[in-house]
Amino acid sequence: MRTAEPYRIKMVEPLTMTTRAEREKAIADAGYNTFLLKSSVCYIDLLTDSGTNAMSDRQWSALMMGDEAYAGARSFDHLLEAVQEAYGLPYVVPTHQGRGAEHLISKILIKPGQYVAGNMYFTTTRVHQELAGATFVDVIRDEAHDPTRADIPFKGNIDLDKLQALIDDKGAENIAYVNLAVTVNMAGGQPVSMANIKAVSELCKRNGIILWSDATRLAENSWFIKEREEGYADTPCAEIVKEMLSYVDGLTMSGKKDALVNIGGFLAMRSEAILEEARGLVVVYEGMPTYGGLSGRDLEAMAVGLREALDDAYLEHRIGQVRYLGDQLKAAGVPIVEPVGGHAVFIDARAFLPHLSQDDFPAQALAAELFVESGVRSMERGIVSAGRDADGNNRHPALELVRLTIPRRVYTNAHMDVVADAVIELWKNRDAIRGLRFVHEAPTLRFFTSRFEPIPARSPLPEQAEEHPVGAVDVRP
Ligand code: F0G
Repeated sequence: MRTAEPYRIKMVEPLTMTTRAEREKAIADAGYNTFLLKSSVCYIDLLTDSGTNAMSDRQWSALMMGDEAYAGARSFDHLLEAVQEAYGLPYVVPTHQGRGAEHLISKILIKPGQYVAGNMYFTTTRVHQELAGATFVDVIRDEAHDPTRADIPFKGNIDLDKLQALIDDKGAENIAYVNLAVTVNMAGGQPVSMANIKAVSELCKRNGIILWSDATRLAENSWFIKEREEGYADTPCAEIVKEMLSYVDGLTMSGKKDALVNIGGFLAMRSEAILEEARGLVVVYEGMPTYGGLSGRDLEAMAVGLREALDDAYLEHRIGQVRYLGDQLKAAGVPIVEPVGGHAVFIDARAFLPHLSQDDFPAQALAAELFVESGVRSMERGIVSAGRDADGNNRHPALELVRLTIPRRVYTNAHMDVVADAVIELWKNRDAIRGLRFVHEAPTLRFFTSRFEPIPARSPLPEQAEEHPVGAVDVRP
């Protein structure tokens, strides 16, 4: 039997369609950076799944129960109870969003000069680790960097040999902590298996290393364990999540993803000592330990949402919708990261635009072109997102991707059909897509605010025209 969305729509938000000429002007005004577009010109907004969730009637009701007391608010107790029950961790410190939690934990766990190992970097996470004086080391399995390896069910797993080698090389005392992301955003929303979480936990324990989790998309990860890992087919995702977290010392959470809210985050942990330090820092950077930069109503909505996200019917549809889009693109021959992950379909921009070099920012160019084609907003996840290394050189990540990120409970499968049609149309006309170059490069997290312009079409210099065929001479500055 076919299934539909496991909810019905109670309130709608009208969308606006623009003309191609309007979109051409809008993307030029935005410096060819989809982050700088106004949302009013985005017909279907797949920039991110972060904070773009549709809340349920129960969450909206809970908002009315927010306790806005400066200290000791009842809303904090509700969040604490939800985290204790759903995640099995005893202590919570709220933060305004995930990176607030990353900031605090990086300050607490990292001594300058240490290393943090993780299964692929995430932009804000790595910045906070580096600002605290650490060097991030990627210990994800090799296949995660290969978009074509569709045969790997848990592409987000940590490579235990790489982690062991890092411990042998640097010494356990120089590893501040291991950061295990579930799922792995930059790899394409790829999951981590329960067996891997367990094995990483054992390796960390043997070496006295703290295991932290970036639990931002833990609910989606649990669905893949249920679907793909032996022994979990009949286990509810709520139980799988509890088992996943039983192996970690603590977590950072961006509630804007798998707690189904528009703003919010938290740290959760087992250690009283870490709790004490986090409480000390949260008052400096976020707010009192019972609100951490959020209002009481935000805490209430997050307490309800983090439980709703663990519902099997919700997760089946959620992951199914992402796959529904991915399958259409795959069937048309569009190169995407396989298998399709939990929150987004990632287009392989290198394979889509083989005529561009990575320094021409193919993913950035493709995201801009997709917007002009259709009003669909997507995001670059490639060389621009990767930024520069300590020596100021561009990092060249293996993955050069455009992310079509699906907000939770927001769009129907009819919207996915429109997105698929737009991408397939571009695929047919891909040869015409040109690269971009910087007009303004922002110093930190440059993908958010940098501006670009199209690289002028290559044409032969007049005096060389006879000797060289058209297009063979590069006259770019
Ligand atoms: N960790 C992961 C894996 C994330 O994807 C994000 C945010 C964060 C941490 C930071 O959380 O935004 O609440 O501060 N990802 C968003 C995205 C921004 O679009 O992928 P935050």
